[in-house]
Amino acid sequence: MCGIFGIVTKNQEISVGKVVFEGIKRLEYRGYDSCGIVSLYNSKLFIKKEAGKIDEIHKKIKLDEFPSGSRLALAHTRWATHGAPTKQNSHPHLDCFDKIAVVHNGIIENFLELRNELTSLGHTFKSETDSEVIPHLIEDFMKKGNSFKDAIINALKKCKGAYAIAVCQIDNPDLIIVARKESPLIIGIEEGKTTYCSSDIPAFLPYTRKCYIMEDDELAVLKAGEVQFFDLKSDNKLIRKEMQTIEWNIDAAEKGGYDHFMLKEIYEEPDALRFTMKISDQLLTKFANALISADSIYITAAGTSYHSALAGKFIISKFLGKHIQDMECSEFETQLKCSLQDNSVIIAISQSGETIDTIEAIRWAKKTKSVKILTITNVVGSSITRYSDHVIVTNAGPEIGVAATKTYSTQVLALALIAVSIAKTRKIISNEEIVKYQDALAGIPNIIEQFLEKNVDLIKYIVNNLEKNMNYFFLARGISIATAKEGGLKLKEVACRFIEGYSAASAKHGPISLVREGFPIIFIAPPDETYNRLVGNVMEFKARGGRIISVVVESDVKITKLSDITIRIPQPADKFHNLFSPITFMPALQLLAYYAALAHDLDPDKPLNLSKTVTVH
Ligand code: M6R
Repeated sequence: MCGIFGIVTKNQEISVGKVVFEGIKRLEYRGYDSCGIVSLYNSKLFIKKEAGKIDEIHKKIKLDEFPSGSRLALAHTRWATHGAPTKQNSHPHLDCFDKIAVVHNGIIENFLELRNELTSLGHTFKSETDSEVIPHLIEDFMKKGNSFKDAIINALKKCKGAYAIAVCQIDNPDLIIVARKESPLIIGIEEGKTTYCSSDIPAFLPYTRKCYIMEDDELAVLKAGEVQFFDLKSDNKLIRKEMQTIEWNIDAAEKGGYDHFMLKEIYEEPDALRFTMKISDQLLTKFANALISADSIYITAAGTSYHSALAGKFIISKFLGKHIQDMECSEFETQLKCSLQDNSVIIAISQSGETIDTIEAIRWAKKTKSVKILTITNVVGSSITRYSDHVIVTNAGPEIGVAATKTYSTQVLALALIAVSIAKTRKIISNEEIVKYQDALAGIPNIIEQFLEKNVDLIKYIVNNLEKNMNYFFLARGISIATAKEGGLKLKEVACRFIEGYSAASAKHGPISLVREGFPIIFIAPPDETYNRLVGNVMEFKARGGRIISVVVESDVKITKLSDITIRIPQPADKFHNLFSPITFMPALQLLAYYAALAHDLDPDKPLNLSKTVTVH
């Protein structure tokens, strides 16, 4: 995944270099191994690009300084797929005569064939990227007499794969042309003055809240303060699109006084959850009815979203009375090739809505059988929504930190709300109990707020206590195995520690042999039906010298007595709250990962080798 951003303006007051520089910084979560900017002025392209993080590059080559008269610029921040992160491979890419500049997010799958074809026609390539075929194809069609726009249309016809592109050309100094297929692209507009194109909304939000969300196979011609859209599927005809107004403001997309986005987003969890609670009953009932009438049910996702699927399937099946098969999206087709049946329902979870493996899993399922896709995402209009029958948007607000935090808790909350809706529809518990579950859900934001207010010093103390340990376990039983796995993933990705989230029962079948005097084990221990057996597990690990840290509820006694340190979650010890403990216990583990990253001098917002959204297989 990469980020693209562009501006074309009439406003003489602004520096386009500065605007696109600030813009790609807000998109840096999409990839940060190289970046580049092009501005067009006096029939010439001015380019700055380099490998590295944006701020580091800026120190060396002043990424925001371009000719002051320029009214058009494009920028790109890259997450390498084809070709190493080098200056040569960074965008923009140009044609043979430095007249056309392209920034691209996506993958051109047939680039090798195209590259060979273009090379045989005399084109010279400077990079190893798939993207570079695009400016050369455009050059080729323009040579044949195509207009700038037609050349782009014809070039894209030859490309297989995914793209969001923005293109400028020196003989068309007032235009940016953009197009989209399977990679996000949004047009921001200050009518009559300035037009922006961007992979995500925060990049233009300081300037405008008015935007158009582009769909697959659409092309747009951007002039200062105006935009025209064309449908590439139906004879490139001019189409009207509805302008949208973004409700959240730029504060939501910036750090707002926190040192890192990850910390800010952990602290935003209570409010994000309050937003998610607003999902309409009508929509929840649609999800509930689809699940009740399904013959088979699958739940699929990747990474953190998969862990929310594990927690969610536990909560939903309690009220649904049916088995829900969880499946990592990358394995979906392989594993279900021979067994997927008609009238199955698939719950797909993806905060970005752009994870290619999740999208491909549901696309394949839809193509193969008569199935219903129920999607939970955080991004309105994201690619996954196009393949879905019903969509819940979690409304957690933008999540910039690469590590998923508030999107995890809001996903689990959405699944819990579906579960309660199923309980209501099926009338399998009394109204009184339903109200108690609803009250427990409504109380979650306050529980998290209280926890965050009082426990930061304790978490920092634990981080110090664990500092020298490269390995440890998160252990749990039942529903909390999902919490343990997600806690382990957070520590791996941001603190570069090998922490395994595992079943406390299964750990006795092998992993326990790692335990030595002082080996840390963090037990996730809400007082649910697994608690007493977990007490036994804690004793087994303690007897072998394990250092026990436990996450328990406030009134806990038994596991507290066995623990060296306890983290106490301020929630009642009843079955109504226990069921939702994957939401209330998680901020403790997210904070632990955050402070562990700082203790090891790592940037929690930019974990090594990771990208916020994985759009390659
Ligand atoms: O956007 P998605 O939820 O589909 O992303 C799936 C995973 O790549 C993602 O959850 C990843 O594991 C997290 N960012 C890690 O914190």
